[in-house]
Amino acid sequence: MSKHQLEHILQCHPIARTDISRGCNTDLFTRDGAKIVDFEAGTWAAALGHSHPRINSIIIGQIEKIMHTHYKLTSDMAEDLAINLVELLNWKDGKAIFLSSGSEAVELGMRLARLVSRGDKMLTFQSSYLSAYPSTSFPRQENAWVQVDHQQCNGCRKTECSSCSVLSELDFAGIAAFIFEPGNSGGRVLLQPNKLVKFLAREVKKQGGLIVANEVTTGLGRTGKWFGYNHYDLEPDIVTLGKALGNGYPISAVVIKKAVASSVESSNFVYAQSHQNDPLGCAIANEVIAIIKEKNLIKRTSEVGAFFLRQLNMLQQECPIIKEVRGRGLMIALELTISDVTENVFEKMLAKGYFIGTAPAANLLRFYPALTVSKKDILGVCKALKEVLGSHRVLTGKT
Ligand SMILES: Cc1ncc(COP(=O)(O)O)c(C=O)c1O
Repeated sequence: MSKHQLEHILQCHPIARTDISRGCNTDLFTRDGAKIVDFEAGTWAAALGHSHPRINSIIIGQIEKIMHTHYKLTSDMAEDLAINLVELLNWKDGKAIFLSSGSEAVELGMRLARLVSRGDKMLTFQSSYLSAYPSTSFPRQENAWVQVDHQQCNGCRKTECSSCSVLSELDFAGIAAFIFEPGNSGGRVLLQPNKLVKFLAREVKKQGGLIVANEVTTGLGRTGKWFGYNHYDLEPDIVTLGKALGNGYPISAVVIKKAVASSVESSNFVYAQSHQNDPLGCAIANEVIAIIKEKNLIKRTSEVGAFFLRQLNMLQQECPIIKEVRGRGLMIALELTISDVTENVFEKMLAKGYFIGTAPAANLLRFYPALTVSKKDILGVCKALKEVLGSHRVLTGKT
């Protein structure tokens, strides 16, 4: 059997390498032992780094006890995780449910919001990514969504959004929830203005809607705070989590404030899924939270992210091809002035031993490394970027 071809994996996107055999913290190793520094932390999920020894030993210990149970049964691991999360959110007597993927968590969060608020439409930002399911995917159905383009607010000097003629046309009646994805913006790192977020949240609440913070990518430290919404004056009713919660193991969560949870429970809502509240994922997530706390990774992310941004801003002075550098914590993007070169940059960076993210349609390079990334690797990726982006002609193929 060939080990080098992907003959049986359905190809839904270009595959960059087929020979990754192991990982250690921010490093990936190919079958031949070559090292690639992972500036995407898996798919933004391995926030503590790959193959973390403490996570490995929790997995081994837990599978020897039990990894999966019927959804009618629960465990100390699930209860402990619910307690951990409601404590982090400061939501006394809040409740949580655990699923497998971020998409599932967002879907369930939206369903619960509809159930409790009795609205049917959802409000979100045009640039927000919410799940892989058709109900939220682009292009979103106009009759089910109210979508706000926050980029039209760039440069706005108004002190109050209520005096904005564009926003005053929005109809907030019948909106079940404002689903706020804080700053990730589908990997484009478009940081929404606080004033606008506050305004939308207030108007939705006035009409009986809820606030759902979609923290699948921004939760658990990525932005230099525990949750991405902590950068805003907004208090959610429901928080969805995924990715970093399992450090690469698929576990997600919907965490719900007490009042919302009481409404859901009194409505006799029924929801059952095969991997609901599975002990293995919950045990892993409890350890992830413990490690983030013990290693002070929230503060570290804020400091190391600021260091990374400074390096990229310095690089921008030397590389005219860099249009903009933006970021929050270790959620960083670099926008280029020219189109159709991101994949060329990606290939060249990979050849130099750095796996970086790209968003070709937005001319964007992306850096979402593990929260444990070293300054040495940050300096290394910046040096490689300088070599690649400095040779403008090589990138465009123009002589
Ligand atoms: C903000 C956000 N929400 C939801 C999802 C969906 O999560 P998953 O891919 O685990 O289903 C993603 C995935 O990238 C995401 O970035």
